Amino acid sequence: MCGIVGYVGKQKAVTILLEGLKRLEYRGYDSAGVAVLQNNHIDVAKKVGRVENLVKEVARHQLTGTTGIAHTRWATHGGVTDANAHPHVSSDGKFALIHNGVIENFASMKRFLLSKGYTFSSETDTEALVNLIAYHYQKEPQAGDKSRFLESVRRALMHVEGTYGIAVVCSDAPGEIVAARKASPLILGVGEEEYIIASDVSALISRTQNVVYLKDGELVHVTPKRFTIITQAEEDVSPIVNRVTWTVDATELGSYSHFMEKEIFEQPAALENTMRGRFSADGSTAQFGGLNLSPVEFRQLDRFAFCGCGTAWHACLVAEHLIERFARVPVEVDYSSEFRYRNTPLSGNTLFFMVSQSGETIDTLGALREAKRKGYKVMAINNSVGSSIAREADGGIYQHVGPEIGVASTKAFTSQLMVGAMIALYIARMRDMSFADGVQYVKALKGVPDLVRKVLEQAPHIRNVAKRFARYNDMLFLGRLSLFPIALEGALKLKEISYIHAEGYPAAEMKHGPIALISEKCPTVFFAPQCEIFNKLVSSIQEIKARRGPTIVVTTEGCEIPAGLADEVITIPDCHEAVLPIVATVPVQLLSYYIAVERGCDVDKPRNLAKSVTVE
Ligand code: M6R
Repeated sequence: MCGIVGYVGKQKAVTILLEGLKRLEYRGYDSAGVAVLQNNHIDVAKKVGRVENLVKEVARHQLTGTTGIAHTRWATHGGVTDANAHPHVSSDGKFALIHNGVIENFASMKRFLLSKGYTFSSETDTEALVNLIAYHYQKEPQAGDKSRFLESVRRALMHVEGTYGIAVVCSDAPGEIVAARKASPLILGVGEEEYIIASDVSALISRTQNVVYLKDGELVHVTPKRFTIITQAEEDVSPIVNRVTWTVDATELGSYSHFMEKEIFEQPAALENTMRGRFSADGSTAQFGGLNLSPVEFRQLDRFAFCGCGTAWHACLVAEHLIERFARVPVEVDYSSEFRYRNTPLSGNTLFFMVSQSGETIDTLGALREAKRKGYKVMAINNSVGSSIAREADGGIYQHVGPEIGVASTKAFTSQLMVGAMIALYIARMRDMSFADGVQYVKALKGVPDLVRKVLEQAPHIRNVAKRFARYNDMLFLGRLSLFPIALEGALKLKEISYIHAEGYPAAEMKHGPIALISEKCPTVFFAPQCEIFNKLVSSIQEIKARRGPTIVVTTEGCEIPAGLADEVITIPDCHEAVLPIVATVPVQLLSYYIAVERGCDVDKPRNLAKSVTVE
């Protein structure tokens, strides 16, 4: 949600900033802007629309300076206009600022600043903060041996209620940036004679793999030769420089048309990475290095709670199903956004899992803090190393699927399903699951990458199905048991990238309402694998057909769908119950992807969405 990047070094800043913005564009793409310091003056270029538009705008400016900041916006306060695009400049022209987050008390701040003669040219909350920094700079000209620039930012931030990741430049301080964070992600890249501030690693990976993850309440002051980190309370922080393991290739499209397509096809390798090193030597259970709980402590838990948002929440539902089914331990699942406010009663021996690809989703971070405040241990299931959620959790399981750039989550989701299946196994083997069943289960998990490859081989068929169904404006997704969350996921995927209205339901719920939607105009994607309740699934499809609803049936190899019930069939390999949700997800990812392409939609940057939702 908004991407920010800043550069201090010896190169022309604008080139590096624009490259960084292109890589951050998935975080927001309403408008973009850049501010460069040159000759003790701040030059700004900004434009509504994609970074491409900004590139054209920049060509009209002479931006040659070697210090600058840039931003790609996902609008919160104020419409999508050039004036509301970042960077925002203080009315005295001394400061420019980029911001990711929400300043909740901006209205009172603005009233105060107006009374002091500051003027405003946008509707944003951000402009209040940049003017407040200018106010403190004027008010306290003496900072002693401290940097006056850093001190005015620090003092201004003491008055902010809300969330922020910011980077600021000052016309009196050439070659310097001050950046700070509270609940919005921010990292510092430490390169060869240069520093890069960014919302995430993708913006700086082409220049350095050495990064410092800033913590909440920290400010970093970057000068051409060094950087220093302090807390809001002015304590010095000793920085830890981490080495990022992935390289720039992971953030490039290669021969694919879209990141979503690339990430769907990366799933076999991604799932192998998620599993690597995580099975016991006897091959009968899972093992996790980062839980920071001994098996004895783990065994004492009598309940698990999972929180997540969107696709991650669907992964939580599958984990619930598998843990209850195989380990017979009760599981609670909550939307992160609901959990943090609804004061759920829970038993003392509950362990929380916060599921988040980005590790920066503000609602999940809020849920984590609420669970910890109540005294629970919290684990993170997370893909981004060093993210806020990973850092604040007591332990966790990294997904290791590499960067996910497509706004629609694909490989991160199937990897979360894999982690859930492994946790279910781990708990089950501490309880009633036999050694032999454990071995079977592990074998099934290890076989998933090949099963997914088999489904991917059907891409040409699924593309043809998509061509036939792309013209509809409504669609239902129905499934039962562990495939009910996959029905929800199929519907979410389709609606977010193709704008087709889609709903997911447990198949038997159809007759309690959604059946009213069924007609020739509303097709259903129906999950009907071979299982104990196969005949009941067939009856539900009959009910759809009796109302002339078109159907796409996703079923397992060797399963006979009675004649006339399926307009299209997509077959997946027959597999262990624990891995069925992973295997069944792939066809609906491909279906949504191809439908969106067929409809000419911008698959990787769907309207109104952003990859990482860092505002409430
Ligand atoms: O980074 P997170 O996993 O916490 O993100 C949660 C959701 O915002 C995310 O899964 C969203 O629903 C995706 N756009 C789904 O494709």
